[in-house]
Amino acid sequence: MSRRWFVTGTDTGVGKTRVAAGMLAALAARGFSTAAYKPVATGCLLGGDGLRNEDALILRDALTQPIDYERINPVALAPALAPHLAAEEVSLSMDAAELAAMADQLPVADGLVIEGAGGWRVPLSATETMADLALALRAPVILVVGIRLGCLNHALLTADAIKRDGAAFAGWVANIMEPEPERVADQIASLERRLNAPLLGRVPWLSRPEPSDVAAWLNDTAWWH
Ligand SMILES: Nc1ncnc2c1ncn2[C@@H]1O[C@H](COP(=O)(O)OP(=O)(O)OP(=O)(O)O)[C@@H](O)[C@H]1O
Ligand SMILES: [Mg+2]
Repeated sequence: MSRRWFVTGTDTGVGKTRVAAGMLAALAARGFSTAAYKPVATGCLLGGDGLRNEDALILRDALTQPIDYERINPVALAPALAPHLAAEEVSLSMDAAELAAMADQLPVADGLVIEGAGGWRVPLSATETMADLALALRAPVILVVGIRLGCLNHALLTADAIKRDGAAFAGWVANIMEPEPERVADQIASLERRLNAPLLGRVPWLSRPEPSDVAAWLNDTAWWH
């Protein structure tokens, strides 16, 4: 097996990193080797080794093999802004084809889990968006829906855009973002009826959303076969 997935979300802060790390843990638990890619990160903090992004560090910690930080996250930007604006501040231009080519240079693994930044149509430059990067990566897309008020509209719009852009929509994960959400089963059922794509997992609100805890809530046979 050598597969890759692109994890997008209905918004920023909806659980993409937690789900991506859970996918890595699920793969590792089944004996598959893993690699991760977080091509673009903003709001990075300067440490002794350079700019570091929390998401990329979480993904790196969940891997079955050591991979240098710079290969997992080649574009680490300090400004806590949308990617194209953060890049502008440091006079950097990002190109979807170039970023996709870097994924091919990662160490070989059975499963490569890629996390976008923000949502599906977040701009990458004046002309490209995250969608162009997902397409250039030729990776089926997994949509993380952060279950909260407003998510139905965001999920349906994002799913339409993924399909319209010509990406393979592998399915979606319902990630429950509050300890006591209202009518969560009805919200998920409403999406199941309308999304026409497999529900790959329902992750409850977890006080400690560690990769192995999240992995337990993913329906693994649904996404890696
Ligand atoms: N199921 C959950 N239970 C409890 N907390 C969660 C859950 N999912 C996500 N969170 C928390 O919500 C926050 C956002 O999650 P996460 O960083 O995975 O989102 P994201 O979509 O990757 O965000 P970004 O757009 O910044 O990359 C984190 O603090 C995370 O711990
Ligand atoms: Mg993230």
